[in-house]
Amino acid sequence: MAVLISGRGSNMAALLEAATDPSYPARIALVLSNRAGAAGLARAEAAGIPVAVVESRAHKGDREGFEAAMQAVLESHRIGMIALAGFMRVLTEGFTRRWEGRMLNIHPSLLPAFPGLDTHARALEAGVRLHGCTVHLVSAGVDEGPILAQAAVPVLPGDDEATLAARVLAQEHRLYPAALAWMAVWLARHGAGPLPAMRRIAEEATAALPSATGAMANPLPAFAALPTEKA
Ligand code: GRF
Repeated sequence: MAVLISGRGSNMAALLEAATDPSYPARIALVLSNRAGAAGLARAEAAGIPVAVVESRAHKGDREGFEAAMQAVLESHRIGMIALAGFMRVLTEGFTRRWEGRMLNIHPSLLPAFPGLDTHARALEAGVRLHGCTVHLVSAGVDEGPILAQAAVPVLPGDDEATLAARVLAQEHRLYPAALAWMAVWLARHGAGPLPAMRRIAEEATAALPSATGAMANPLPAFAALPTEKA
């Protein structure tokens, strides 16, 4: 597996950590960044993982050229599966088709709510009481591919963007390594197929793994405990 990053790389670090377990079913063979200054690169190097940089800036206005350069690096490392982890470039339809069913992303919202950027600020603005993160297969539409797994967190009184982002991020670090492990095993057994057909794999994931079956409510519906006023 290759992990594609653009910056901090905390999800990448969580994956590297999970993959140190010898029973983890995927090997992280490459960390690829589109920015030479990405902090995650140093973390990957310190962990002894091969790293590569394909500067998107060097291919300004030429997405195909940028992706061809990435593809060459991915092939030279014999990559079979891609994990996007804070990778901040929109990919062309051609690239997403080439990796169809073998490329996953983690997005910091409960999709299909809040695709795109600034998800935590938008969740606060919308006043949602539950927020979270989503692992999905990557399609040509941004943040639109089949959903594999989600984790929900409450939005609490007094939250700002930073506190809410931190609560979601802690769940990202648990959810992504688990979902990628499941996907790696699935791909090794069945191989990748076209995305519409792969929608059913999310159902298989849910059937194969422990799921939360109770309703998640925030605030908890303990109305009896609310103060009452006599008329
Ligand atoms: C994460 O919130 C991820 O969901 C989003 O970008 C952020 C990347 O953070 N796609 P990091 O680089 O993994 O720390």
